[in-house]
Amino acid sequence: MAGQIPQRFIDDLLSRVDVVEVVGERVQLKKAGRNYSGLCPFHQEKTPSFTVSADKQFYHCFGCGAHGNALRFLMEYDKLPFPEAVEQLAGRLGLDVPREGGNDPQRQVREQKRKEGVNLLELAASFYRERLKMQEGQAAQRYLTERGLSVDIVKQYGIGFAPQGWEALKSHLSERGIGEPVQVEYGLLIHREDSGRTYDRFRDRVMFPIRDLRGRTIAFGGRVLGDAKPKYLNSPETPVFHKGRELYGLYEARQATAQLEQVVMVEGYMDVVALAQFGIHNAVATLGTATTEDHLTRLFRLVSRVVFCFDGDRAGRQAASRALETALPQMIDGREARFLFLPEGDDPDTLVRREGADAFRDRMTCAMPLSEFLFEQAAQGRDMNTVEGRERFASHVLAALNKVPEGMLKSLLLETLAKRSGLREAQLEALMAPREAPGASAPEAFFEAPPQAHSVRHAPPSQRKAPLSTLSPVGRILQLLVHEPTLVGDLPELDQWLPEDEQAPLCRELVALLRAGNYRSPQVVLAHFQGSAEGQTLAQLARRELLIPRAARQAELASWVEHLQAHQRKRSPEEEYAALLAHERAGHKLDKAQRQRLAELVVELAPRR
Ligand code: UTP
Ligand code: MN
Repeated sequence: MAGQIPQRFIDDLLSRVDVVEVVGERVQLKKAGRNYSGLCPFHQEKTPSFTVSADKQFYHCFGCGAHGNALRFLMEYDKLPFPEAVEQLAGRLGLDVPREGGNDPQRQVREQKRKEGVNLLELAASFYRERLKMQEGQAAQRYLTERGLSVDIVKQYGIGFAPQGWEALKSHLSERGIGEPVQVEYGLLIHREDSGRTYDRFRDRVMFPIRDLRGRTIAFGGRVLGDAKPKYLNSPETPVFHKGRELYGLYEARQATAQLEQVVMVEGYMDVVALAQFGIHNAVATLGTATTEDHLTRLFRLVSRVVFCFDGDRAGRQAASRALETALPQMIDGREARFLFLPEGDDPDTLVRREGADAFRDRMTCAMPLSEFLFEQAAQGRDMNTVEGRERFASHVLAALNKVPEGMLKSLLLETLAKRSGLREAQLEALMAPREAPGASAPEAFFEAPPQAHSVRHAPPSQRKAPLSTLSPVGRILQLLVHEPTLVGDLPELDQWLPEDEQAPLCRELVALLRAGNYRSPQVVLAHFQGSAEGQTLAQLARRELLIPRAARQAELASWVEHLQAHQRKRSPEEEYAALLAHERAGHKLDKAQRQRLAELVVELAPRR
């Protein structure tokens, strides 16, 4: 692990950057007296209630309460984790971020290399963008205009142009002291083994930079202006680019949407860009490959709903059925996958231009649910009027079902299958391959039973799975709060529900912090605890997915709190006293609130003894 960033460095950094400048690069600000004001980037508004103070080096929104310094702004606005936000700010001043201890030389070399590569790719991206604007880029500009792309969208996606000739980029980079081997390693130059010559990989092409989640260019896709082949050329696999993992447009989608709830998966660069231009900012594309498990794992970490978009033809159906196979193991409760089939001869680009954004959105809304597509596939070419046909149908669905994690979808599929095949559910379950040892195949973070069932369900610790997979109620509440800090607004006073267990002090601290600070993003919360044991606990909880849709989180929190409240009410003062004592004797230090409560209880219980 890289070591901690020293606090004094951060303090120093904050004293040297100007929050007005940092914010001003991202939000249009007007001078208003001693302060600056503008439209708040953290909530929708028509009149400015967002102010930035140069004196205090803070921003504040009177509308939504967003508040903080330059570092926090970067974290919230650019959605950066703490260390990256520090890197960003330091980079502006040309400073290297120092780290305390934890020096792993190998890791440093890797980091260094990665940095080199990313810098190089950034340089290339800006070279391409510049060329598009110059005389030699005019044909490319015309091409983009003909394809209906606005100047804004070209800018937003950082689209550029690789000029003709064999060495345009090579000489540009070489003049800046970048060696050819690195250029080859990052896919910008092609090295011919036979002649030993090197030349630009991308020539006379419109260039689409592929960015990682932090917006760093990691690869390119280049399109010819005419009909030459290959139509698209992509960067090869490099130390920073793995096709099977990256999605074109994901960074831009996250930037454009405050709370990304769903994404639509399309096939091509142009589809992503065209949809964005029509206001559909949540499209992403695989890079000339089929959808992989890695793609979906990444996506479902960010959103709960994925709509796969396919051509309506046979090849499209085939691709869809491969995507279905890949999606099945990922379908934990709370996630949703749908399949959208386009009219033959259309792709999202042509369709959205012809029908408009609303029609396309309607198609997304009405896309076929995964279950329906699965049944449709299973029934295809089978005569459901014969026993044999129905059996084949059933075994197709069952094979798929075996890949689906336990949960609502699985029960629903089984139920529907029973109806459609005429077989009883019990028979079907018997037909299914025996599952592995209990727990082994269930997803690691499958979430807890609903509160009502809680006390019944708690198996003795020895029978439980890994400690992480069974959170205590307070643990789950902590997890919900870390993921969704704004939920703190719904919590009743702590003493009404918080049991005095190990996590009580952390819960108190977190709740107090969230109440005081109006937090929106987990990263900022984590930054507060950075470097402490509590920080590690919270980071662990943050890494674990919640696995329920956003809309259900508030309700879940409420029901946990209710459950605990009911429990608290049932407890006698004696029990509470005993619990606190036991807690202390077990070697845990009581925090202030706990000590105070203990003192109260001593007084309260004294006459009865
Ligand atoms: P398509 O051939 O469907 O092209 O390829 P498109 O996206 O509609 O592009 P336009 O509208 O003609 O410009 C879909 C995707 O497949 C990959 C690219 O990622 C492309 O966006 N592809 C296609 C390649 O990698 N190489 C190719 O030669 C063609
Ligand atoms: Mn197209």
